[in-house]
Amino acid sequence: MKFLVTGSAGLVGRQVIKDLLQSYTQVYSCYNNSKPEDGIATHLDLTSPDGIIKVIESTRPDVIIHLAAMTNVDLCETQKDLATKINAKATAVIAEQAKKLGAFLVYVSTDYVFDGEKGMKIESDNTESIDHYGKSKLEGEKAVEEIATKWCIARTSTPYGIHPKKKSFPIFIAENLKSGIPLDIITDQYTSPTYVPNLSRMLIEISSRKIQGILHVSGATRVSRYDMAMMVADKLNLDKKLLRPTSMGNMNWTAKRPRDSSLDISKAASLLKEKPMTVQQGLDLFVEQMKQKPN
Ligand SMILES: NC(=O)c1ccc[n+]([C@@H]2O[C@H](COP(=O)([O-])OP(=O)(O)OC[C@H]3O[C@@H](n4cnc5c(N)ncnc54)[C@H](OP(=O)(O)O)[C@@H]3O)[C@@H](O)[C@H]2O)c1
Repeated sequence: MKFLVTGSAGLVGRQVIKDLLQSYTQVYSCYNNSKPEDGIATHLDLTSPDGIIKVIESTRPDVIIHLAAMTNVDLCETQKDLATKINAKATAVIAEQAKKLGAFLVYVSTDYVFDGEKGMKIESDNTESIDHYGKSKLEGEKAVEEIATKWCIARTSTPYGIHPKKKSFPIFIAENLKSGIPLDIITDQYTSPTYVPNLSRMLIEISSRKIQGILHVSGATRVSRYDMAMMVADKLNLDKKLLRPTSMGNMNWTAKRPRDSSLDISKAASLLKEKPMTVQQGLDLFVEQMKQKPN
């Protein structure tokens, strides 16, 4: 099977490329600004529909894992047109090309397609996002459902993992606490944190088994930012007193955030061999990984 992965140097994409290369040889790793280390590096700018068509026509993948997105939630709020172009319109072009080729499309989406009033959402729950990032990703989902013929929409939540440039939440906590810097951490925002290697294996299983429909592929535990930070401090024996509880209302955000965007992963847990990990399982592996690569 030939794979094409967008966003291949991102937090999730970098791991997906590494894992795909364990089993497959033809893996096109698409990027815009950050050239990936692994796979067949292929330039692809999502703001250019013609460019997307050219890349897909020339590579003719059997599977497309579409991870690339404008992921900065506040930037999406101030640059709405660009966010719509990258997250929604480009996804429609990719869905059209996947349909033409008969390729299987995995669109990686987000917990932010929900309003966050009530958490632990299942796949068939009503979507209604409260910020432009979520709206643009939801538009991307709708394009996939309407245009593509063989597809999976894989929604995830707050991925964390080791990346050379992107600091995920546990790294941010660990670095600051190690330096003795106090942090104000929110107690009233809940998500389902997802360990990136676990997510990567779930996405690859979906791709190779061609599992269709919408699937929640996040971590298995609903947890607040504050509780997650406390767990990180606990596992690394860092000073928990430096973590000061605060609430969402005190944050200086441009975009609104869902209060509880946790996802119910029962469907993925019953369908997939790679099960969504609990936050304890994910953090244990993450801490091991951090100890091996301390910087
Ligand atoms: N991070 C989260 O908290 C979160 C939560 C839920 C769902 N998700 C979803 O999971 C997916 C992966 O997220 P991530 O955290 O791995 O993202 P990330 O680390 O922020 O990486 C985003 C990727 O998108 C690419 N990209 C952005 N603009 C592009 C453009 N115009 N043309 C081509 N590529 C472009 C970037 O490529 P270059 O660096 O090469 O420019 C980068 O590789 C996304 O679809 C996101 O919506 C993320």
